[in-house]
Formats: sequence, structure tokens, C-alpha cells
Amino acid sequence: MAIIEMNGISKSFDGRKVLDRIDLQVNEGEFVTILGPSGSGKSTLFQLIGGLLLPEEGSIIFNGKDQTGKRGLISYMPQQPALLPWRTVLQNVLLGQELRGKKDEAKAREMIKRAGLSGFEDALPGALSGGMKQRVAFIRALLSPQSLICLDEPFSALDDFTREEMHEWLLSIWSNYRRTILFVTHSLDEALFLSDRILVLSTNPAQVIHEMVVPFARPRQSDLLLTGEFLERKRELASYIKRGDLNGS
Ligand SMILES: Nc1ncnc2c1ncn2[C@@H]1O[C@H](COP(=O)(O)OP(=O)(O)OP(=O)(O)O)[C@@H](O)[C@H]1O
Ligand SMILES: [Mg+2]
Repeated sequence: MAIIEMNGISKSFDGRKVLDRIDLQVNEGEFVTILGPSGSGKSTLFQLIGGLLLPEEGSIIFNGKDQTGKRGLISYMPQQPALLPWRTVLQNVLLGQELRGKKDEAKAREMIKRAGLSGFEDALPGALSGGMKQRVAFIRALLSPQSLICLDEPFSALDDFTREEMHEWLLSIWSNYRRTILFVTHSLDEALFLSDRILVLSTNPAQVIHEMVVPFARPRQSDLLLTGEFLERKRELASYIKRGDLNGS
């Protein structure tokens, strides 16, 4: 069953159309990625889903109910790690639950351990590396009570090596705590390695120009990136991104 459905969503800024009749649907437990060039409107899409912006056209349905413009229904992880600097790792991780008045500290501690952050429970974010901060932010998103987690290029600020590690880590923790994820990236590798399904956006005014069901079995390991089938799929995605660019210029 679809957790979220966007139907015919359009959005303009200052008379310039950024999103043009976007349709998308994410089912329970699915990992769906929106792949699009920089400036195509990916973060805007998340702000619409989060109710921070209103669309000019279209509706956003959560669990069968029209919730266009409603806030608080998703757990959102922004492009830059947004940890509260005065709260410890444990206190940051528990924030989403605290806002809803239901804390599960034992589970939070267990997830911090699984994230390789044992011993850092009481550390402040300032003492963590970029990758560690993003793990903390991701655990917080996983622990939040909302049924849909939206991740906006959470690893774009990390170096390639750390990013690859984070991908494997994310998939292992996701398979354990299985949640519905909508992910945004402009990296073809990241989209293919992580997702069940990929939607490709064109440049502005952005439309969904391609949908790919990713055929790779799980669990996935990083050597998948070197296989012929992976490269073939990557080529397919790249051809659509290129076409999307041509449409936009
Ligand atoms: N509040 C706003 N006011 C005016 N224009 C905006 C606003 N927010 C976004 N835009 C414009 O909308 C377009 C899409 O922006 P958005 O941030 O959604 O892109 P993106 O796909 O997330 O890009 P990136 O990959 O670089 O994060 C851009 O041209 C941007 O300048
Ligand atoms: Mg963005």
C-alpha cells in the first residue's frame, strides 16, 4: 500500500516553473530515490512533502488522506547535518521521539552501537567527524515515529571513501529496522546501489522522465558497482539525465 502519493504537483518561484506535474508514489517498506541534476527541484519536492511549501497544483496524499500542506508527517534529514550542538549524541538521537513524548533510550543506545559510535553517547556533535554526524542524524530519522523518512543528499559532503562505507552501513541498518525511505541524490552510483526504485527528474521545469525498478538482489556489497549489469543500468540512467538536460536548455 502507498504511504505517500504525489499527484500532479507543480511549483513555481517568481513566475519560473521548477516542478511540472510530478507524480510519485512510495509503498510501505520501499526505498525510492529521486535522481535529478542540481537545481532540478529535489529539495523543493521535499519541502512540499514536509508541508513547508504549498504547491500551485496537485495533491499530496498520506495513507489515503489528502494532507497537502500539512506539517510533521515525515521525518526529514536535510543536506547538511542538523544536530543540535549543545545536545549529546544520545540526546540528539532521541530528539524526534522526545517531541512526541515517547522515548526508547535502550533502542537508541543499541542503534548508536550498531553505528560504530559506542563510547560517543555523551559526546557533543563538535567532537564528531562529518561521517559520524551523518550517522547520528540518520539514526535520529530512523527512530522518529513518522512512517516516511526523507533523506536529502545526506552524504554529499563526505569524501568518496566515507560515502561508500556509509552506503553499506545504511543498507545494513535499514534492512534491520526496515522503514519507508524517499531518498534524493544526483549520484547515479548512490541511487543504483541503495534503491528499490529510481525516478529520474529532468532539469526545470522538472518532470519525471524515467522510472527504473532496480533489479539487484539484497544484501548488496560494494563490488556490485564493478559488475557489468550495474554499469549497464548506470548507462541507462545517464542517458535519461542527458536527455533531461537537453530538454531544459
Ligand atoms: N525559496 C525559494 N525562492 C526562490 N527560488 C527558489 C526557492 N527554493 C528553491 N528555488 C529555486 O528552485 C530551483 C530548485 O531548487 P532546489 O533547491 O529544489 O534544487 P535541488 O534539486 O535540490 O538542487 P541541489 O541538487 O543543488 O540541492 C532552483 O533554481 C532554486 O534557485
Ligand atoms: Mg537540494
